[in-house]
Amino acid sequence: MTNLRTCVFPCAGFGTRFFPATKVIPKEMLPLVDKPIIQYGIEEALASGFDKIVVISSKGKDAILDHFDRTSELERSLKERSKQDLLDAVDAVSRMVDIIAVRQKEALGLGHAVLSAADAVGREPFAVVLPDDVILAEEPCLLQMRRVFEETGRPVVALMEVSPEETSRYGIVGGEMAGGRRFRIRDMVEKPKQNAPSKLAIIGRYILPPDIFPLIQKTEKGAGGEIQLTDALRALVDEGDFYGYIFEGKRYDAGEKLGYLKATVDYALRHPDLGPDFRRYLDSIHG
Ligand code: UTP
Repeated sequence: MTNLRTCVFPCAGFGTRFFPATKVIPKEMLPLVDKPIIQYGIEEALASGFDKIVVISSKGKDAILDHFDRTSELERSLKERSKQDLLDAVDAVSRMVDIIAVRQKEALGLGHAVLSAADAVGREPFAVVLPDDVILAEEPCLLQMRRVFEETGRPVVALMEVSPEETSRYGIVGGEMAGGRRFRIRDMVEKPKQNAPSKLAIIGRYILPPDIFPLIQKTEKGAGGEIQLTDALRALVDEGDFYGYIFEGKRYDAGEKLGYLKATVDYALRHPDLGPDFRRYLDSIHG
């Protein structure tokens, strides 16, 4: 058995695609129906067997940590007013997880954010979840990926098929299918303008060995003057088998406005209390 228990959540970016909403409020704290975006990722990690959660934050992002902390005054007030349901809901979030918080002092890129988790992670394999990639799935995406890692002991990234017009917006992999939904990655190209090696895009779920840290350290600033995780991943591909997993489920980019709206609609329709009324409302405005 592998000791895969740490999950890193990089949350130190500026969220410019969602301005002005995210000028002050972290995008990870925007509500998706009735939970902040980050909570979906944390719940996915916990349901996939991860119990050591590391959040990379930055100035102005304390609300993320506060959300999972106790709120004694609120809890006391709810208790006094016998609001047991609300108290249970608040309590469940406060007890959900103990977070290790690491500050990224400058937003120097995703690679740099992951590197700042090195001490917290230690010499163990770990997962990375980009919280604004929200995934609706029967079986949590990270759990699907964990299985590949436990069988192979090799790095795994989540893959999703995109249309040819969309390949220029993602990291695209080259290689060949390796049975089931697995893909043996031989190459990666960041946002290819032409000649994309496939239609398979890397999305925000990774399972990586600690060997990635020295590779990030060696990575020069790349696109946008940032230290890119993809550049270090490419170096890892050269060191041995590296898998992609075409996960089952639907992914939303909740870090940009349209993706966020789509996620809101789909999650609201599935919500046990709100879903039926919301569906009636949507039907009524469709005419
Ligand atoms: P994104 O590019 O999606 O996020 O980075 P961003 O920079 O916050 O948003 P935009 O593009 O300006 O709208 C992918 C992930 O990496 C984190 C982000 O918080 C996000 O989860 N990140 C990015 C960091 O933690 N540090 C960085 O320096 C850059």
